[in-house]
Amino acid sequence: MKSLTITRPDDWHLHVRDGDAMRAVVPHSAAQFGRAIVMPNLRPPITTTALALAYKERILACVANGSSFEPLMTLYLTDNLPSEEIARAKAAGIVACKLYPAGATTNSDAGVTDIRKTYRTLEAMQREGLLLLVHGEVTDPEVDVFDREAVFIDRHLRPLRRDFPELKIVMEHLTTSEGAQYVRDADRFLGATITAHHLLYNRNAIFTGGIRPHYYCLPVLKREEHRQALVEAATGGHARFFLGTDSAPHAAHLKEHAFGCAGCYTAITAMEMYAEAFERAGALDRLEAFASFHGADFYGLPRNAGTLTLTREEWTVPETLPYGDAQLKPLRGGDVLNWRVAA
Ligand code: DOR
Ligand code: ZN
Repeated sequence: MKSLTITRPDDWHLHVRDGDAMRAVVPHSAAQFGRAIVMPNLRPPITTTALALAYKERILACVANGSSFEPLMTLYLTDNLPSEEIARAKAAGIVACKLYPAGATTNSDAGVTDIRKTYRTLEAMQREGLLLLVHGEVTDPEVDVFDREAVFIDRHLRPLRRDFPELKIVMEHLTTSEGAQYVRDADRFLGATITAHHLLYNRNAIFTGGIRPHYYCLPVLKREEHRQALVEAATGGHARFFLGTDSAPHAAHLKEHAFGCAGCYTAITAMEMYAEAFERAGALDRLEAFASFHGADFYGLPRNAGTLTLTREEWTVPETLPYGDAQLKPLRGGDVLNWRVAA
């Protein structure tokens, strides 16, 4: 196959930051995707409709004229996000709230300390039809880092789904076979996004030839058997698994650091990486549904009208990119890729 044209895909999980950093990264996503679910973990977090709408305008100002990229906005769930904010958010076109367990990841200190504290807000979300997007990892220091997703499902997701049977929930950046099985066995109210890096790499990537901070993200890469389970989930045609890059830019010097930040920058190579993963699995014919149909269908939004073409062409990913005052190192920087998104 020399080229592949699919319905324009969407990114159902993306970090674009703010300010000069945002200006450097938004065009990469806009070049590939029709829409993106924008994560609210700024400092301070996006906790009101007004903040989300202002953030949306700042994102749109980074999109080149003639490009039709649409940011889909989310609110950051805290222990005291007022339930009254939900109707306002819905009316303003905000589609979801993001649940970060406090301390789980980047800018999550304002996150939820006890899910029960959010129950009135979750009730309002269920009623209004806002989705709940979940960073599904426990923060309990007693729990091994590699087990935190599976434990979150048992301790928190099962009771949450029992108490809110009609709240649509997305397990973001799924990383384990347990997670894939749990989502597959669930009803139509539970979906999951899968990143390209979790489809392509296992945890060995973090430790090959020395510690490689650019492969460090949360939830962390897992064993090979989990990667294989994710590939099966993504390429198997199941409608509740869909594309979410979790592209998460950090200045290179903050990743190459004694306390390196979690997050892989993949927006510049997103569809190329997914194409690579699907091709390796012999499932390029399933890429369109995963990238362009399943997410929109789950969110209850129309599928995109345009198309995106990938051509088979070798190109070398830049090792560094400008990022405000700093530099950004894309995950695949320096690699030769076999697919390229056509301009
Ligand atoms: O690796 C990650 N980076 N995981 C997250 O959950 C947050 C993200 C970020 O914002 O950098
Ligand atoms: Zn994320």
